[in-house]
Amino acid sequence: MATLFTGISELRTVSEAGTLTDAALVAEGGEVTWIGPAAQAPACDESVDLGGRAALPGWVDSHSHMIFDGDRAAEFEARMAGQDYAAGGIAVTMEATRAASAERLRGLLRQRVRAARAGGTTCMETKTGYGLNVDSEKMAAQIAAEVVDEVTFLGAHVVPPGADAEDYVNLVCGDMLDAVAPHVGWIDVFCERGAFNEEQSRRVLEAGQAAGLGLRVHGNQLGEGPGVALAVELGAASVDHANYLSDSDVEALAASETVATVLPACDLSTRQPLAPARRLLDAGAHVAIASNLNPGTSYTSAMTFCVATAVLQQRLSLDEAIAAATSGGARALRRHDVGDGRDAQGRPAKGTLAVGAAADLHVLDTPHAIDLAYRPGMPLTWRTYVAGERVA
Ligand code: NIG
Repeated sequence: MATLFTGISELRTVSEAGTLTDAALVAEGGEVTWIGPAAQAPACDESVDLGGRAALPGWVDSHSHMIFDGDRAAEFEARMAGQDYAAGGIAVTMEATRAASAERLRGLLRQRVRAARAGGTTCMETKTGYGLNVDSEKMAAQIAAEVVDEVTFLGAHVVPPGADAEDYVNLVCGDMLDAVAPHVGWIDVFCERGAFNEEQSRRVLEAGQAAGLGLRVHGNQLGEGPGVALAVELGAASVDHANYLSDSDVEALAASETVATVLPACDLSTRQPLAPARRLLDAGAHVAIASNLNPGTSYTSAMTFCVATAVLQQRLSLDEAIAAATSGGARALRRHDVGDGRDAQGRPAKGTLAVGAAADLHVLDTPHAIDLAYRPGMPLTWRTYVAGERVA
């Protein structure tokens, strides 16, 4: 069944077609099959009038930690009173998560995904990393694989309290990896002081690579360090946070296919300097914007808020920020358009509205997409469509 979406005042395609005004789009079989001026739209089985609103690809949120129970409101309040963020808080969430049943974690995850979709997100990655033993990490991976688009194994989030670091890294690279590998596509490591050093991070990533997983890295969040260089050296799809970068980190990213994923909501919530997205783009690096939803450093899935921050404070243009939060996120997950609207595996690409790509649409309750930054904090999402079907 072909559906014509019409009444689009401004269509930000995030593709070669650029921005079209008074546009229409046809979706069929979950894919975009036609884009162009409304006056030339083909006849379709059904038609949806978007009423003169702006539309863009759904957000691709390439970094989140959505499988957890409990919150860390007290830690946040202490931080706002002057305390620094430290990785140790992860153990608090670990306790609450280990105590939760699979049913409860699944319910919490579904709620979080619903909230993200209500904010225009149409593709999400999420990580394990609050179980930190074989059974809990495996359970998290299984639940995540049922619900979200891309799942990442983050057994190497921190060394759980009482464990020996070397023994724990061996566990992550051995039994834990074996248990989760059937359910995940990616492996990640928190390469940072207070978490895992360069040598430990390398072992984790190489073990994941040997198991056929793609690589992602949490790096350079709390200070300069080896995370970015390691990610680039090992061909990671993405290095995330990237707050503290040396010139050579920026040069390495610019010369690589590793995406620098910036997390503006996290930077604000931890009172870290905002990641240098402008400098990275100017240098020629690939940049993504993601929410980093988690209870410690970024308890929000509001990609629209992240995009507004990127424009208002990180000095990206609206086009750059939208691209980073759509096709940039898709690239960080290797789901971007590599030609004909398909990704490298031949699937409909995410994060772009081109013929052949996924019909994932974010419709704003305004005729102008610039309102994403001009009216920060306003509830701008009108509807969200995944594969041509309305989900919010
Ligand atoms: O991406 N930095 C490491 N992991 C999360 C924070 C996890 C937590 O503090 O619970 C992040 O910010």
